[in-house]
Amino acid sequence: MEGPRESPNAQVVLRYGICSIAVGAKDVLTAFQKEIEDKNLNNVRIKTTGCIGLCSMEPLVDVHVEGLPNVTYHHVTPEMARGIVFHHIQNRTIINEWVIPNV
Ligand code: FES
Repeated sequence: MEGPRESPNAQVVLRYGICSIAVGAKDVLTAFQKEIEDKNLNNVRIKTTGCIGLCSMEPLVDVHVEGLPNVTYHHVTPEMARGIVFHHIQNRTIINEWVIPNV
């Protein structure tokens, strides 16, 4: 079995508006930061940005991994944040069932 890549080039963009924070975005941000730091993923950047008007789907997280399509995950929890780092960022496997449906 192939192991995870050491340091993928990736960016995590957390939609960080009032409603997102109200439903747990702060804990999601902390989970991403801790996971990325603990795993020494030096080429993974975390950013926060404004909301896009999809209150009912917050917390929303855009993930850009070099060489993969950009996706947005919805209703992200700290547990899911850890899963996104492991599966999507380290093992380059998009978790399709968590991706926002076309709206
Ligand atoms: S206030 Fe909810 S998505 Fe902007």
